[in-house]
Amino acid sequence: MAEVAGQVLIDAARTAAVNAHAPYSRFAVGAAVLLSDGTVVPGTNFENASYGLSLCAETVAIAAVNVAGRLADVVAIGIIGGMIHAGGITGTGPIRPCGRCRQILNEAAQIGGRDIMVYCGSAEGDEVERHHLSDLLPYAFGPKDLGIGI
Ligand code: THU
Repeated sequence: MAEVAGQVLIDAARTAAVNAHAPYSRFAVGAAVLLSDGTVVPGTNFENASYGLSLCAETVAIAAVNVAGRLADVVAIGIIGGMIHAGGITGTGPIRPCGRCRQILNEAAQIGGRDIMVYCGSAEGDEVERHHLSDLLPYAFGPKDLGIGI
């Protein structure tokens, strides 16, 4: 079981995953971003008939944070994923952000000057992993390398 903040984000990610548009992979992902004032911003994966255009849940959530002008305020993210069945979303193993999403998260991390906490959960199970983004994406290239956000 995760600490309180992590569990809140995992719960919000599970709620978000219900609205995943994932008719091709049938794999629903939910994300929930925690901002420094306690605001939680959700995201889901958003697939496309042209498969390669599909967007991951974490990317959708971070883009929504940016729309709100809050890219510098990202503290943590929770993600869950599982297979879509008639009865709901199933799966007990924690999922971790894909490589592209780690890079997207790094943009918010460097702009905000925080090492974002990443909570990785599942559709059904109780296990929640807790990682620093810097452990998931070591030696990252980011805005700092371009003189932005320093
Ligand atoms: N997916 C995410 O939303 N986030 C990840 O970090 C990994 C993968 C989505 C993309 C696609 O819609 C589905 O999961 C199966 O790959």
